[in-house]
Amino acid sequence: MAAATTQKTVLLGVSGCIAAYKSAEIVRGLQKAGVRVKVVMTAHACEFVGPTTFRALTHEPVATRLFDGPGDAIHHVSLAQEADLFLIAPCTANVMAKIACGIADDILTTTALATKAPLLIAPAMNVNMYEAPATRQNMTVLKDRGVRFVEAEEGYLACGDIGAGRLAEVDVIVAAALEALGLERDLAGRRVLVTAGPTIEAIDPVRYLTNHSSGKMGYAIAAAAVRRGARVTLVSGPVSLVPPQDLLAVPVRSAAEMLEAAAEHFPAADIAVFTAAVCDMRPASPASRKLKKGDGDERLATIELEENPDILATLAAVKGPGQVVVGFAAETENVRANGMKKLASKQADLIVANQVGENVGFGQDENQAYIIGHDGILDLPEMPKDALADIILDKALELL
Ligand code: CTP
Repeated sequence: MAAATTQKTVLLGVSGCIAAYKSAEIVRGLQKAGVRVKVVMTAHACEFVGPTTFRALTHEPVATRLFDGPGDAIHHVSLAQEADLFLIAPCTANVMAKIACGIADDILTTTALATKAPLLIAPAMNVNMYEAPATRQNMTVLKDRGVRFVEAEEGYLACGDIGAGRLAEVDVIVAAALEALGLERDLAGRRVLVTAGPTIEAIDPVRYLTNHSSGKMGYAIAAAAVRRGARVTLVSGPVSLVPPQDLLAVPVRSAAEMLEAAAEHFPAADIAVFTAAVCDMRPASPASRKLKKGDGDERLATIELEENPDILATLAAVKGPGQVVVGFAAETENVRANGMKKLASKQADLIVANQVGENVGFGQDENQAYIIGHDGILDLPEMPKDALADIILDKALELL
């Protein structure tokens, strides 16, 4: 089974502080936004929370020691190269001081020195340590070097003191990390409905009609919407993709089932994107038992078809003023012209028109499309479906 997106990697450095347990929530917050997380811990951090926790959450090895077996990969160099962002949360006064001075005496600080990735630090410590001139000076040195900070908050500290030094809220740290990665959360609070994949229409209990849709485009849109903060419902026909995490996946088979599921979730959706390759026709009278060659049943030799409901057109016809409806047009010829016709006939706000055919469109990781709106056409070059997904969502968001 294939994953639906390419990912950014955050290297999360955990240092020895009572707030280290919150790093587990930071991992989850980043993962929810579609980010891959790897963890590096100081020996002191391991006193507060075990590497097993992070290993289980990230499904990745956790780096805790500078010197591994002679045959192992050189961790601090490979970790440093893999990271798109090095987030240290919580960061103790000691680790901050070491990084400010370029000291590299454990796996975390060595990786911090070795990486070219941007550094984001969320300090957590006792109020007096936080306000100590040495700490303040170290923060100034690091900020001057371009290191970003999520400042500690005021509050009750684990030591019993009250004041600044408490690790910032997990959501604030996650948001700062996503911003540093250039991953916008501009769909936060929005609901997105996506239909994806083919439908299958039963001839009898073992045979069906279907098409070549892989579901990749719809899954890429659903993943992008989750990453950008939306609450997503993905109504999908049978495909061999794993649904992205943190969305409501509604598996369906036939067009009738897809319409029922989509209609249930459509009223709450701000944006509805209909990528599914719905079978236009279905067998008019599917058999309840397997049709046999020799028993003279006409339904095997000549399958009588009837029209399926048009899910996009049905729902677009009842859309409210605050909703944006995006359809697709899978065309083998006259892509632009046919796309424009579908914009009108389906009452969509946008139509993404693309060429399909043998080795084009279906099943591919790349797509070349026109985004057709009522105020113009965007002619896009061939690009990965992940990138196209973001552009489609950008356009839909503009219309909201
Ligand atoms: N669509 C739908 N329900 C259908 C048929 C299509 O929701 N029964 C949606 C698709 O998800 C897509 C758009 O309508 O967003 C256009 O689908 P497409 O297969 O390109 O066109 P059709 O409407 O099926 O028309 P034709 O086959 O004649 O090109």
